[in-house]
Amino acid sequence: MQKNILEIKELSASVEGKSILKGVNLTIRPGEVHVLMGPNGAGKSTLANVIMGDPRYRLEGGSILFEGEDISGEKPDVRARKGIFLSFQAPEEIQGVTLENFLRASRGACTGKPVKVLPFKRELQRNMEELGMDASYAKRYLNVGFSGGEKKKSEILQLAMMNPKLAILDETDSGLDVDAVKLISENIARFRNESNAMLIITHITKILQNLPADYVHVLAEGKIVRTGDASLVDTIVQEGFSAVLK
Ligand SMILES: Nc1ncnc2c1ncn2[C@@H]1O[C@H](COP(=O)(O)OP(=O)(O)OP(=O)(O)O)[C@@H](O)[C@H]1O
Ligand SMILES: [Mg+2]
Repeated sequence: MQKNILEIKELSASVEGKSILKGVNLTIRPGEVHVLMGPNGAGKSTLANVIMGDPRYRLEGGSILFEGEDISGEKPDVRARKGIFLSFQAPEEIQGVTLENFLRASRGACTGKPVKVLPFKRELQRNMEELGMDASYAKRYLNVGFSGGEKKKSEILQLAMMNPKLAILDETDSGLDVDAVKLISENIARFRNESNAMLIITHITKILQNLPADYVHVLAEGKIVRTGDASLVDTIVQEGFSAVLK
């Protein structure tokens, strides 16, 4: 039997002394696509950041197992090397580091091996083409001056190049035009396979058009209050959160 990719038990976390997560349970197995929805401020991004090990958040209780191993004390870079990837809701701009160099350094840090330049460049070019990104963006500083949608594409490019076991996408679809949502949805679907898994945080659901969601969770006030199949998305879209939170 394959190990669970992620197993979160009774997770509580706070930020700046304020309790945000209050006992979250979540198990993600290989090949599964999980969708996390919930009202603004419910704690979705907090959960993503806590899984990644963001030091701003304090773990108050519970555990986070990644492939059976407790990672709750590990630094973010260790978690990344183990195969966890987080695409940020608001990607940062980094002056002085080109997108290409950033990706090459990340690849090297994660694999622990030198990156062969030519195959890497070819792979990068292919993935940029798939995302409809002009090759010139590889030479630009990471996200600097990128439009909102371009930043999101740059995140998905990182996903494709890093090939993580667990991809957490925090509102990767927000602020994208209709064609870009479709393109990104297709690219995420292309990445998916039977041995990796995804946790997709979203408010709009177009991103799911090419992805079969196995589980849909609703997070409210720091807890997962409802879990269902893909049809729960339609219920939420039609009736709002208040209907499912009753
Ligand atoms: N670094 C931080 N400093 C202070 N407060 C924070 C921080 N991170 C999160 N919070 C607070 O924690 C709560 C949950 O925020 P979070 O970003 O997790 O919500 P969310 O569910 O992702 O909402 P949205 O749908 O708007 O993205 C909010 O009240 C937010 O203000
Ligand atoms: Mg958020």
